[in-house]
Amino acid sequence: MTTPDILFTLEDSSVKAQVRGLVDMDRTRQGSDRSRFIRHFRIDSPPGSSSYPFCLPVVKHLYETGGFSLRGGLTFLVGENGSGKSTLLEALAVAAGMNAEGGSQNYRFATRSSESSLSQYLSLAWGMEKPRSRFFLRAETYYNVATETERLGHAQIAALGGVSPHLRSHGESFVDLMAHRFHAGGLYFMDELRLHCPLTLAWG
Ligand SMILES: Nc1ncnc2c1ncn2[C@@H]1O[C@H](COP(=O)(O)OP(=O)(O)OP(=O)(O)O)[C@@H](O)[C@H]1O
Ligand SMILES: [Mg+2]
Repeated sequence: MTTPDILFTLEDSSVKAQVRGLVDMDRTRQGSDRSRFIRHFRIDSPPGSSSYPFCLPVVKHLYETGGFSLRGGLTFLVGENGSGKSTLLEALAVAAGMNAEGGSQNYRFATRSSESSLSQYLSLAWGMEKPRSRFFLRAETYYNVATETERLGHAQIAALGGVSPHLRSHGESFVDLMAHRFHAGGLYFMDELRLHCPLTLAWG
């Protein structure tokens, strides 16, 4: 079975991080040894600033250690509240061509721009393959993605299974998204998914 490459964040204050602030905890056995899409990322020459996001230990760590290599399949970013998971995932999603508030490359809206400048300092090393599709699911702003989906029209709603996310519960809308919009050969970023979705989907 071919699985998509998925990065998502998981809050769990009971998880003991081996690296202060952030740890790559687990990956599925189904994944290949290396991600087909983003194989490695690093932070280049951040400004000598002590303000957000450059003050975050995870950002300093990634800069000092030359970045991080990804394998295929699922990658979990786990850390304490406030450790920088969402900041890092957002920067990766933006650097990979997605909208900071969520959505695919086709979503270009900003309800309230609050993204950090970290993406400007991220270098992504891509594999030979390009993802067939990509999507950034950000639980806290999915309402705004739903509004934009309705504005974009029928084709975007059809891609989510035919029902506007505004007419579904949170959990239903996320399951719709994964069932209809996520495919093998895709690259997906999901922030705080655990709040809503069972992780029992399979891609063939
Ligand atoms: N726009 C911003 N401006 C300044 N500081 C911010 C901003 N966004 C987040 N922060 C701070 O950066 C730190 C990391 O925030 P982030 O949202 O990335 O954490 P997180 O690991 O995703 O936390 P949680 O588990 O609660 O979702 C926090 O201390 C937060 O207060
Ligand atoms: Mg977060």
